[in-house]
Amino acid sequence: MLVTKNDPVNNGAAPVAERFSLYSAPAPLQAVTFADDVRLGLSAAQKRLPPKYFYDQLGSALFEAICDLPEYYLTRAESEILDRHADEMLAALDEPVELVELGSGSGRKTRLLIEAALRRQESLDYHPVDISSSALIAASTALVGAFPALRVCAYASDYFDVLAARRVRTERRTLTLFLGSNIGNYDPAHAGELLRAVARAFSPGDALLLGTDLKKDPSVLELAYNDPTGVTAAFDKNLLGRINRELGGTFDLREFEHVAEYDAERGVVQSFLVAQRAQVVEIEGLGLTVPFADGERIHTESSYKFSEDDVATVAAEAGFAVARRWTDERERFAVSLLVAR
Ligand code: AVI
Repeated sequence: MLVTKNDPVNNGAAPVAERFSLYSAPAPLQAVTFADDVRLGLSAAQKRLPPKYFYDQLGSALFEAICDLPEYYLTRAESEILDRHADEMLAALDEPVELVELGSGSGRKTRLLIEAALRRQESLDYHPVDISSSALIAASTALVGAFPALRVCAYASDYFDVLAARRVRTERRTLTLFLGSNIGNYDPAHAGELLRAVARAFSPGDALLLGTDLKKDPSVLELAYNDPTGVTAAFDKNLLGRINRELGGTFDLREFEHVAEYDAERGVVQSFLVAQRAQVVEIEGLGLTVPFADGERIHTESSYKFSEDDVATVAAEAGFAVARRWTDERERFAVSLLVAR
């Protein structure tokens, strides 16, 4: 934990720099790199790129813009729930807590939970984990600036790596936040693995707050993932831009179209980048030549949607029970409090 000292010019709170620390996984410890995943994904019969690479600096900014789009209701629906119920959520743990957050992004929604925690206790330790170090640093420094009683220990890493390495050390009862329907970006097997990794890090009395987007009318879902302003398309295509910038690729972004389709049977929105003509792309940094047929697709993201039963099932498989569940007024999104069974 961080050492705090009194600072007479800051109302007794420790200076901002002393209340923020950042851990970044050193490159050699990152099991699989962007280059490895691009090589593997673009050499596969069904081409794919993992969605965790959306979030470089530009991608994180585009994601923030998506959250403000009228069509992308998820962020507003979840904020409505947190706004109304954050105090009840914290009260459910019945003790001073620490917060761990998987995928903190801008930290906008987390503020509501931080405020609720600080209404119940004098100080708070918050441990955000996010793949995007730029988003993590911006959000963390803003939070320690806004809350004098907050200490932030941030981890710029993949969630699995941080959980597997048991990097996050908490001393108080811990509320882990996994919001924004981030769990929906994992296929069911990986989502289960991730929840089991969270469960393994639990001490008695800890809880997990899980935000999930609900299954609904396909036209609403498809519009949320293919907005007419084109921000989601830019977010998706930025993956190709990132390959060009970081790996010396020759993708022409005008030659790919973003498509989002809801598969109602599986309850998942699938996003693709579709080649608009046959073409060959070179990736110099990988020494790789990637041929595309006209209409060939790169799968870039799955966004699973969850009924109430789906959440109970995925929770039970990881050893959790749903203790409480809240939805927004229009029943578009749910936040569930999971406890160990
Ligand atoms: C971060 N994640 C939960 C978002 C989602 O809804 O799947 C990412 C996103 N992709 C397109 N729009 C938003």
